[in-house]
Amino acid sequence: MISALLIGEDYADAQQKTANYDESKIAPYSLPELLKTQSGKAIANAEAWTLERRPEVLGLFEKHVFGKTPAPATWGMVDFKVTAVKTDALGGKATRKFIHISLPEHPSWHGMDVMLYTPNEAKHPVPCFVGPSFGGNHAVSNEPDVPLSTRWMRDSKDKHIVDNRATEASRGNESSRWPLEMIIGQGCAVATYYYGDIEPDHADGWKDGLRAVLSPKGATTDWQDGQWGAIGAWAWGLSRIADYLETESAVDAKKLAVIGHSRLGKTSLWAGAQDQRFGVVISNNSGEGGAAIMRRNFGETTAVITKAFPHWFTKTYTSYAGNEAACPIDKHMLISLAAPRAIYIASAVQDEWADPKGEFLSGLHAEPAFALFGHKGYGVTEQPAIDQPVGDRIGYHVRTGKHDVTDFDWTQYLKFAKRNL
Ligand code: GCU
Repeated sequence: MISALLIGEDYADAQQKTANYDESKIAPYSLPELLKTQSGKAIANAEAWTLERRPEVLGLFEKHVFGKTPAPATWGMVDFKVTAVKTDALGGKATRKFIHISLPEHPSWHGMDVMLYTPNEAKHPVPCFVGPSFGGNHAVSNEPDVPLSTRWMRDSKDKHIVDNRATEASRGNESSRWPLEMIIGQGCAVATYYYGDIEPDHADGWKDGLRAVLSPKGATTDWQDGQWGAIGAWAWGLSRIADYLETESAVDAKKLAVIGHSRLGKTSLWAGAQDQRFGVVISNNSGEGGAAIMRRNFGETTAVITKAFPHWFTKTYTSYAGNEAACPIDKHMLISLAAPRAIYIASAVQDEWADPKGEFLSGLHAEPAFALFGHKGYGVTEQPAIDQPVGDRIGYHVRTGKHDVTDFDWTQYLKFAKRNL
């Protein structure tokens, strides 16, 4: 299996040498029709969307892209244990809680550790951003008393991950992507967990994660077409945080925004598509497999992503490598699954690998679904200038700089979430 993967130099070549970054070289394509069922019936109103087309589109993403999330009976009871509370976190501005989420009927899964910050000044339950991290709670926060994650992580000199484990020096290494004081200062809460709590992010990671635990054949499972991949499992974790937040008095669980960056932006989109408790869905630089139109041959392609990261998706998705036209979905349909809720798509101008224009276009072509509910989308038809956010129920910006999450991004997300939640 490993030998078939696109890794190391081959992956770098795909990014730097063989990928197309020339708009004029994009082959013509036509997108699957959003407001027509697979049997050709026109969808003319919100009711038909909700009852017919939306479930159909969701099913297409399960079948062809991310796989189906197992039914609740598969995992059974969900247990929440508040393991620590600090009422004077962030210099007294916030309360910080850790919540251990586990499955009593599946004790072989070690569970996930959620870190929640809520603003102390709030007089009422507040809106909450929910998102996974790449590096663990201790990487999101700079506070020295956040327990270090003990889970598998990819070795990294820069991030001080040694022998696949975090070290003291790893603290805060993702904190620029999580401006906790700014979020709290704006009267919002934030809840996060380490995505590796669910499953380590490598081709065989599932064997040590939730997917093996919930599968009847465990670590010998031979994943079939339509069964969930890692993105589906990570998205499942976000919904379990929403379950907890429904019990948390400091948070208004009717005001949840789901957020993720890059592969975790793909995860956020899929969580938001399945779980309508997320009233705002945010995709930060999610690119191929996320917001970017797959039929556009620009930057990363289906062929590259399914070779480099096959474990993220259901098996079927690989069959669309170089054969995108045969796929019954494109990513405007993933964006449309947020309707009538609100969705924000963000690009970065130097993040060409993620195809900023393709990310913009998916929102544009999702607009007809929002229009059925009387909601406006971008309000523009051309990708806006750099650092010029647009949009009403569908938001978009392309910011200065590289593939990352910055304060500029968060400034827009906070405004957008407050307006739409
Ligand atoms: C790779 C991958 C992208 C992904 C990104 C990330 O670059 O090709 O699809 O979004 O990793 O998650 O950082």
